[in-house]
Amino acid sequence: MRLSTPAKDAILSAKNVVALTGAGISAESGVPTFRGKDGLWRNFRPEELATPEAFRNNPKLVWEWYEWRRQIIKPLKPNKGHEIIARFENRFHQFMLITQNVDGLHQKAGSKNILELHGNIWRVKCTKENKTSINTEVPLPSLPPYCECGSILRPDVVWFGEPLPNHAIQAAYDAAGACDLMIVVGTSAVVQPAASLPIIAKQQGAFIVEVNAEETPISHIADEFLIGKAGVILKEFEI
Ligand code: OAD
Repeated sequence: MRLSTPAKDAILSAKNVVALTGAGISAESGVPTFRGKDGLWRNFRPEELATPEAFRNNPKLVWEWYEWRRQIIKPLKPNKGHEIIARFENRFHQFMLITQNVDGLHQKAGSKNILELHGNIWRVKCTKENKTSINTEVPLPSLPPYCECGSILRPDVVWFGEPLPNHAIQAAYDAAGACDLMIVVGTSAVVQPAASLPIIAKQQGAFIVEVNAEETPISHIADEFLIGKAGVILKEFEI
């Protein structure tokens, strides 16, 4: 057992808990992370592809990247880490999951109380009408896909330079400010505003536990930093 006594105490006494997750929680399911060596796609960085400018300049290229991700994700299953986090909903008096992931694996594992900060790769949005719909078809018959109205559809995800869905980020700030324990799992903590949530929680007196394969810019504020694979380490939380 690697958990320190203060961390065990914090878990056992916590009433209001938030988990913040990033791509690392899905890595053990086979989803490529954004910033690891396996996360690269044709040598593009997410900052070059996941932008409104990139989509305006070359919607087909951006859609090819999303198609690549959708093809990888479609057959994948949630892993132990997702399952343990889903069980937190019954375990803690109040529990909120805030995720930057767009893969839908938390929902597949049974999480319900979830804020998706960066949207969902299985939804598309009309670039003219802003109407969203579920689309899980892989591969898409043509790229880019079009709406019935004749306009291009885009993935309903948040791109660099775009604001986060207002209700989601507001609810995330509220949850971060009110929790007594925040568990941060598998995020490089370099993309704002998600990366500021642990800092808000810490400032409001929450105990911060970080689980990651490596150190991140928020590791120094964590009360407990556990290095390793999320699916392995999170088992220790089931005390
Ligand atoms: P990143 O790819 O930036 O970081 C993944 C993190 O997970 C890294 O810190 C890894 O060390 C860690 N990691 C990898 N495998 C792990 C494992 N098995 N267990 C625990 N940790 C592991 O992903 P995010 O932080 O989610 O945004 O990236 C944030 C945002 O940047 C994404 O939501 C996406 C991206 O561009 C948008 O698309 C808007």
